[in-house]
Amino acid sequence: MPVAPPSVLAERISRISVSATMKVAADADRLRREGHDVVDFSVGEPDFPTPANVKQAAIDAINKNFTKYTPAGGTAELKAAIVQRHKTDYGTDYSPAECAVTVGGKYGIFAVVQALVSEGDEVIIPVPYWVSFADIVNYAGGKAVFVPSSEASGFAVSAEAIAEHITPKTRAIIINSPSNPSGAVIPTPELEKIFALARERGIWILADECYCRFLYDSAPFSMASLPGGKETVIVMGSLSKTYAMTGWRVGFLLGPKFVIDACGKLLTHSTSNPNSIAQKAAVEALAGPQDSVVEMLAEFRKRRDYTLERLRAIPGFTAQTPQGAFYAYPNISGVFGKGGINTPMEFASRLLAEALVTVVPGEAFGTQEHIRISYAASMDDLKKGLDRIEEFVKKLA
Ligand SMILES: Cc1ncc(COP(=O)(O)O)c(C=O)c1O
Repeated sequence: MPVAPPSVLAERISRISVSATMKVAADADRLRREGHDVVDFSVGEPDFPTPANVKQAAIDAINKNFTKYTPAGGTAELKAAIVQRHKTDYGTDYSPAECAVTVGGKYGIFAVVQALVSEGDEVIIPVPYWVSFADIVNYAGGKAVFVPSSEASGFAVSAEAIAEHITPKTRAIIINSPSNPSGAVIPTPELEKIFALARERGIWILADECYCRFLYDSAPFSMASLPGGKETVIVMGSLSKTYAMTGWRVGFLLGPKFVIDACGKLLTHSTSNPNSIAQKAAVEALAGPQDSVVEMLAEFRKRRDYTLERLRAIPGFTAQTPQGAFYAYPNISGVFGKGGINTPMEFASRLLAEALVTVVPGEAFGTQEHIRISYAASMDDLKKGLDRIEEFVKKLA
């Protein structure tokens, strides 16, 4: 009998590629397992352990057999803790019905884009952007419209630049401040202008607040706290970075009830509930002491300052000062043309092969002259990795 193994994939899966950051992290992991001493600056996660009180809450949850399904959009207890935390930090006033808990912030973004973006709708994404935004929009059949930001302003996008890209098809504007990959923080008056633009035109603001607790110089701010914010803004939040809980997979959405309900439908048919044990841990993280966040931020500030000083001393590198998150995004175009390297991609792959340091090339974030360095690494690793980068660049000259 003839054999004809099926080989057809759905068209929509061809609209997306593997997350570039996850690919670099997988390469680093493979090299490490082969016994190489790799310094990994590619990962977007704090090197701190999850706080002890949070871990204990999870252990208690297991011991008390809190190990079954929960409501798909999260437990009432966790939703109450999320809205209370957001109120305390940003002065918003959400009810638990305006909140859904998701399997990581990433799935929340995926769900909300599926719920709001139709075939052909445009979604504005400032550049540089977090890798997944564009592919999540593509997968929904939408069109990512990239808006440049100026490097001299530290990559904080302006309302003016966004306004130039709005068309009748614009459905949403994604704002990620502080930004992954640049660490840019958009000043509050500019966020207010962006909000006004969106509100006048009936456009959603999708506010990715994943790094909102990691601000070095500015006061905490959520666009959802503006008058009318609850109608126009969907908050996409995560416990991953704030509480060093990347592996626990807890994120959330805050927004109008009809949007939360629409996302909720998707959750019931896709992830069902986030892990029950992680939800108990998340309640403790949000409602318990917040000291770990303050300590982590103080440590990140030291590491940021050290990283910047070192990067700026490398010939051919320039670096803006990141105002939030834990990434530096140096411009490396000064080394192009040396040692046969002409792009960030070539730089990153040669750096890994020859100096065993991983960084993410800027192409992944929509720019052609940068690399992303996560400084959420120990001081020892920062020193070792930056020494290696410096030496690698010197050898190229
Ligand atoms: C900007 C941004 N948004 C969302 C996420 C998603 O985080 P998680 O799915 O771990 O909550 C990340 C993670 O790297 C991120 O950098």
